[in-house]
Amino acid sequence: MRSKKKWGLVITLAMVMLVSTACNSKGASNTDSANPAAGEGSTPASAKTITLGFSQVGAESGWRSANTKSIQDSAKEAGYDLKFSDAQQKQENQIKALRSFIQQKVTVIAFSPVVESGWDTVLKEAKDAGIPVILTDRAVDSPDKSLYKTFIGSDFVEEGRKAGQWLADQYKDTQEDVNIVELQGTTGSAPANDRQEGFMEIIGSNAKLKVIASQTGDFTRAKGKEVMQAFLKAHKKIDVLYAHNDDMALGAIQAIEAAGLKPGVDIKIISVDAVKDGMQAAADGKINFIVECNPLLGPQLMEAVQAVVDGKEIEARIVTDETTFTSDQAKEALPTREY
Ligand code: AHR
Repeated sequence: MRSKKKWGLVITLAMVMLVSTACNSKGASNTDSANPAAGEGSTPASAKTITLGFSQVGAESGWRSANTKSIQDSAKEAGYDLKFSDAQQKQENQIKALRSFIQQKVTVIAFSPVVESGWDTVLKEAKDAGIPVILTDRAVDSPDKSLYKTFIGSDFVEEGRKAGQWLADQYKDTQEDVNIVELQGTTGSAPANDRQEGFMEIIGSNAKLKVIASQTGDFTRAKGKEVMQAFLKAHKKIDVLYAHNDDMALGAIQAIEAAGLKPGVDIKIISVDAVKDGMQAAADGKINFIVECNPLLGPQLMEAVQAVVDGKEIEARIVTDETTFTSDQAKEALPTREY
């Protein structure tokens, strides 16, 4: 009887402890849910409170579509509330979007500036509102570096140098003039300015390498085709096309074929980006050399956003790793190409 009583007491005590533990843990989760910084499951601590305003250049190229997808997917994965705006390649639309983000008091603004100049006023407005800004893909030419936290993206000058180096190597022993036409990206944009600068820096030391025509194709396939048609009409002998992106090169290929010429053979083609369609053209021998420009900037951007929100130190410049492809290398890389 005495031992029955003892066991009864033990069971009662155990039940009291169980109930009290349950109450305590319930109390703890209540406290946490009152704190917006405490996340559920694997959502990062402050993710629920982060609103990211992103102003995209447009949808002008295969590269841009891959970049947009990367940013949207990564924001979703990070659990951020993404406010995405497409500027349709117009600076005024981007400025409007940035002002709207400021009005909405987003946590962080990120954008890929369509052109390099003319951002100081709106960037100051963001700074005055206490909203940090991150640049992705393209740079601005503001001398005041305190207007943005970091710039994540490619080294476009280096991309131009790589393109120029391949050409210089191909024609290092040439005794004849090599006539080059250039399809530039959007006028005033960082990639157009820098890819031209890097290219000229390298080929400039060989007087036989001559750029006989240079015009913008605005990074689109349609304009690339149109401008190449005009180049072909105006110039009898074109040896090389340097296109600032794959889409313009692909448009130009259509024009070259329509003129009865063989792209990659009659006219050597160098391009930038290495998106799937460009890589396919390279594998088919229509583009001879592609300089990679990586559009998958989403994960790095989300990391930077989190660091800025957490008040952590962040590098002022984050450069993307990139490579180059000959036709054979494109053939090999194509089956596993992500974009
Ligand atoms: O800013 C990156 C450039 O913009 C890409 O090379 C081009 O394809 C895009 O439109």
